[in-house]
Amino acid sequence: MNDFFSHVAPASADPILGLTAAFQIDPRECKVNLSVGVYKTEDLKTPILSCVKMAEKELYQEEQTKSYLPIEGDASYLELGMQLLFGKTLFADCKNKLCAFQCLGGTGALRLGGEFLREELGKTLYISHPSWPNHRGVFSQCGMEVHTYPYYDRTMRSLQFDDMVRCISGLPPKSILVLHACCHNPSGTDLDRSQWEQICQICLEKELFPFFDAAYLGFGEGFGEDAWPMRLFLERGVEFFLALSFSKNFGLYGERVGALIVHLREGSVDAVQSRIKVLARRNYSNPPIHGAKVVLKILQSKSLVALWEKELLEMRQRIHAMRTLFVETLCAKSHRQEYVDLLQQRGLFSFCHLSENQVLFLQKEYGIYMTADGRINVAGLNPQHIEYVVDAILAAGG
Ligand SMILES: Cc1ncc(COP(=O)(O)O)c(C=O)c1O
Repeated sequence: MNDFFSHVAPASADPILGLTAAFQIDPRECKVNLSVGVYKTEDLKTPILSCVKMAEKELYQEEQTKSYLPIEGDASYLELGMQLLFGKTLFADCKNKLCAFQCLGGTGALRLGGEFLREELGKTLYISHPSWPNHRGVFSQCGMEVHTYPYYDRTMRSLQFDDMVRCISGLPPKSILVLHACCHNPSGTDLDRSQWEQICQICLEKELFPFFDAAYLGFGEGFGEDAWPMRLFLERGVEFFLALSFSKNFGLYGERVGALIVHLREGSVDAVQSRIKVLARRNYSNPPIHGAKVVLKILQSKSLVALWEKELLEMRQRIHAMRTLFVETLCAKSHRQEYVDLLQQRGLFSFCHLSENQVLFLQKEYGIYMTADGRINVAGLNPQHIEYVVDAILAAGG
C-alpha cells in the first residue's frame, strides 16, 4: 500500500464542539452542558419552532422541485431577509446599494465575505478580544492576518470601550473590523447606541471596513432593536459586509441558513456581486434550498411571522429568566454581590469569572461542561439543576 498521509498530525478538538462530544460520553446523570451555543428549553431540548413545522408542512404539500437555486440563492428569501433586517423603508431607500448571497449559516457568510475581502481589500483584519474562537479560524483560513482590538476585560469584568476606540482609531485605512452586532460571544456585553455612533464615525473618518457578525439577532432586545447598529451604518452610508445567521433565531441550526449582505456605493455593487458569485460557484456552487425556503415561507405569511415573533420572545424571556436566576442564586448562596455584572449582559453567553483550572475542576468533579474561558450558555440552565451548578461553582472557588 502507498503511504501518502502518515505524516499528518491529528488536529486538536474544536474548543466548543469538542466539549459536547466529551459531554455525550460522560456517564454521570447529574452532568450539565453549558458549552455549545444553542438555545434550550427548560427540559434542555433544542426544539423545532412551531412556525418552522407549519412552514415545512406547507412546503411538503407545495414543493414541486428540488432543482438548483441560482449561485446567489433564492432572490425572495434574500429580499425579505434584508427587509426584516433593515426595516421596509430603509431597505427600499438603500436597495440599489445592497446585494446579498444566501450562505451556509453565518459561518458560510463570514467565509465567503472573508475570501472576497482578502482578494480585493487586504489581509489585515481585527476581531474583538475576546471573540468567538472560530472567527480566528475562518479568517486565517481565508489567508487573513488576524489581529485583535480590546473589547472586554475579564479581570475588570467590563467593556473596554476607551481602549477599543483608541486601538481602532490608530488602525491603517482599509483595515477590516469584525463587529458583533449584538449579544457578544463570549462576553454577553454589547455597545450602547452612543458607543455604536462613535464606532460608526471612526469607521467613516479612518476608512475602516466593518464586517458585522449578526448571529444572535432577537436574543437581545428584539430582532429589529438588535439590528439597530447595522441600520445606523446603512443610514450613514458606511460601506460594510454583514454575516446574517438564522441558525439561532429560527432554530434552524443544522439547516445552515444565513446570508452575506453587502452594502457598497451604488457604482460598486454590480461588479462586486459578480466577483462574489464566482467565489461561491467555485466553493459550493449554489446554496441548499430547504432552510431558506422555510424562512421565506414564514416571512411571506403574516400569521407565521406573528408566531415566529412570539416564539422568539419566549426564547429571549427564558434566557433572561435563567440569567437572573443564576445571578440571584449565586449572590444568595455566596453572600456576595459580585456576579451582578452578568445582569447587564444579553444573549446566550456570560462569563462565570472562572480560571481554566476551575473549569476543569467543574468538569471532572461535577460533570459541568463550559468552555475553558469560563463562558456558559445560560440557556443550558434550568431551575431543577441551578442549585447544583451554583454549589459546584462555589466549591470550585468561584
Ligand atoms: C459569534 C458567532 N458568529 C457566527 C456563528 C455561526 O453561526 P452559524 O451556525 O449560523 O454558522 C456563531 C455560532 O455559534 C457565533 O457564535
